[in-house]
Amino acid sequence: MESKDSGYATKALHAGIKPNEITGAIVDPISQCSVYAQKFPGEFRYDYGRSMNPNFYPLEEALAALEYAEHATVVSSGVAAMTAIITLVKAGDTVLLPTDLYGGTYRLYVQLFGQYGINFKQIDMMDLNLVEDELKRGVQMLYAESPTNPLLQIYDIASLAQLAKKHGAISVCDNTFATPVFQNPLILGTDIVLHSASKYLGGHSDIVGGAIMTNSSDIHTQMDFARKSIGLHHDPLSMFLLRRGIKTLPLRMERHEQNALAFSKHLESHPKVKRVIYPGLKSHPQHDLAKKQMSGFSGMVSVIFDTDTEETKNIVSRLNVITLAESLGAVESLVQIPASMSNKKIPEELRKKHGLEDGLVRFSVGIENIEDLTADIDQALG
Ligand SMILES: Cc1ncc(COP(=O)(O)O)c(C=O)c1O
Repeated sequence: MESKDSGYATKALHAGIKPNEITGAIVDPISQCSVYAQKFPGEFRYDYGRSMNPNFYPLEEALAALEYAEHATVVSSGVAAMTAIITLVKAGDTVLLPTDLYGGTYRLYVQLFGQYGINFKQIDMMDLNLVEDELKRGVQMLYAESPTNPLLQIYDIASLAQLAKKHGAISVCDNTFATPVFQNPLILGTDIVLHSASKYLGGHSDIVGGAIMTNSSDIHTQMDFARKSIGLHHDPLSMFLLRRGIKTLPLRMERHEQNALAFSKHLESHPKVKRVIYPGLKSHPQHDLAKKQMSGFSGMVSVIFDTDTEETKNIVSRLNVITLAESLGAVESLVQIPASMSNKKIPEELRKKHGLEDGLVRFSVGIENIEDLTADIDQALG
């Protein structure tokens, strides 16, 4: 994919922001209010904090601008975004999921919503013939992540969207790992993009948030309806912090990518490393596809050390600069072992079947000085 137009950083800074008409303040105030007065019954600008808040709209303008979308709905978490999206299907419908995906998506969809009669089917989305065979059987939604969490597999987003459209299914892409700076699934034909804004969009490990972007006004109306009906609204302070985080997103992503590439090359040549998975490395099996549909490879790196799982756990516990923690996408580097942490809720036999080894380590490479990150991993590996 071509790199961003020259106005992208300007957009991240300014979209949706206007100086306050009364005070001239160039930062929107936090609108910490849930109740609004009405002049006459039913005549109002805002009614109640679950469905409306003055902080929703400027932020949604910025979120839509980042993904080149017509509409955005801001919600309380990435999981809240998934919850709103699943209201587009009903009992008896089939949703295709990839074999590799965030453990919380598996928990929410397969383990929770699966109880209500929606059929969730995990398939290898790298096999487009298989995807089309499934779609022919009658599928209402195709839900993918790319790059996937945590194996960093790359799916052909344009082809998946095209196949879904051909067979009447709604296509959805979780773009959390790539960020809108490096990948725009709506431009590739996807119907809905979602983000965990708790990660790169917020960027500072201080909020939990989510966003849904689309060009369909019907889908947008349903997302707003779901937010209000289920109570998926974002809180004013987090919205303030999210808008602030977005201002530096393009700048941060440049450094995340630069550090992740250097970090993965460093590890690739380390004698105690068996395999490094990073879409920006030539050794990544879908490197060419990543180059085609992404304008950068983001900051996530997965690694398999040449050690047993117990020693791998000791290695990550010895890190000092890189913090052992769940989550990702923050300015500070984080590391975790998905099979023991974020993806533990996926049954062990399913994890094994889908290629998630117990010893796989996932790094979220931050924006520290790269020499400090490589020195930290070197000392931890002994
Ligand atoms: C790819 C991906 N999507 C969605 C989520 C869920 O987001 P949240 O934690 O904001 O609910 C996560 C969380 O780690 C994730 O990694």
